[in-house]
Amino acid sequence: MSTQTSGLAIETAGLVKTFGETRAVDGVDLTVPAGTVYGVLGPNGAGKTTTVKMLATLLRPDGGEAHVFGHDIVREADEVRGRVSLTGQYASVDEDLTGTENLVLLGRLLGHRKPAARTRAAQLLEAFGLTDAAGKQVKHYSGGMRRRIDIAASILNTPDLLFLDEPTTGLDPRSRNQVWDIVRAVVAQGTTVLLTTQYLDEADQLASRIAVIDRGKVIAEGTKGELKASVGAGSVHLRLRDAEQRPLAADLLRRALDARVQAEPDPVALTARLAAAASHDTAAEQAARALSELARAGVTVDNFSLGQPSLDEVFLALTGHDTRVSDASDTSDTSGQDDSHDPKDEVAA
Ligand SMILES: Nc1ncnc2c1ncn2[C@@H]1O[C@H](COP(=O)(O)OP(=O)(O)O)[C@@H](O)[C@H]1O
Ligand SMILES: [Mg+2]
Repeated sequence: MSTQTSGLAIETAGLVKTFGETRAVDGVDLTVPAGTVYGVLGPNGAGKTTTVKMLATLLRPDGGEAHVFGHDIVREADEVRGRVSLTGQYASVDEDLTGTENLVLLGRLLGHRKPAARTRAAQLLEAFGLTDAAGKQVKHYSGGMRRRIDIAASILNTPDLLFLDEPTTGLDPRSRNQVWDIVRAVVAQGTTVLLTTQYLDEADQLASRIAVIDRGKVIAEGTKGELKASVGAGSVHLRLRDAEQRPLAADLLRRALDARVQAEPDPVALTARLAAAASHDTAAEQAARALSELARAGVTVDNFSLGQPSLDEVFLALTGHDTRVSDASDTSDTSGQDDSHDPKDEVAA
């Protein structure tokens, strides 16, 4: 299986990793075409980091097999290592050094002569919007700047395959957008990116194909269009002027939209989950139709918003349970960089 003939960056079959009783990765099959962003979407504890660590040769699988650009990750680990980079792992940034010092040092460690290392460092700092911070110690960087310098460090030598393990978890929206732009730029240079994320919108923005993983298993795989169609078009959230009109509004929405309508704890609030497959209308068209039906029936709507399906909704639709995996919370997470998860950053419905 060579890169030339298969065009695949990653191919796994029945990949397994267990930690004691926990089957962290429980028979994962992935096929990642070269030259794309592939999204691995799943909640905390789903097995994303463990999968990435096996593919990056940092962990040895207990079962199954995997090839990276045609190389077996166990028997040909050196060849695999020569072609991949994992942000925050191989290239560790030193907090006490400046941005420039870090990138020049890592460039030197990779075998570049000093002038070349300096040039590359300056290029990357510029490309990642860090020129102004180039002379500052990394410990004074914001979360977003820190994430960007980590990615810069991991692409000093342009890798064929870059693993980005939850690169935006905990970042504010502006910093997320900056990281997204960087990911797009990296792929435009020809690097394949395997991106793990807890956010459906992130996978949606960046990935061509997405595997949804839950409890160590791939529970859905496809293009974003396929995935979303299987879940529904999103939700309409309404707040009514008058709580007494809620039963009537719920009834109208149910009939107008063929939606599942849910009464929220707030007595004036309703959520309608739109069915995608049943209709060619966009979610916005369906919502507009629903609003006009309500107006015609004399229901006053104070506030209205249209939401994409959240990860919680995707999970509920695919698995029948929500993303808060109970067995993940009672195990101390020893998987390194994702210890920074802030529960409040988890996707809310
Ligand atoms: N080194 C380890 N020792 C024991 N359990 C682990 C270890 N690494 C991960 N796990 C467990 O394996 C499961 C999957 O973890 P992980 O791959 O980190 O998930 P994710 O990256 O999707 O949050 C979790 O239940 C986690 O607690
Ligand atoms: Mg993780």
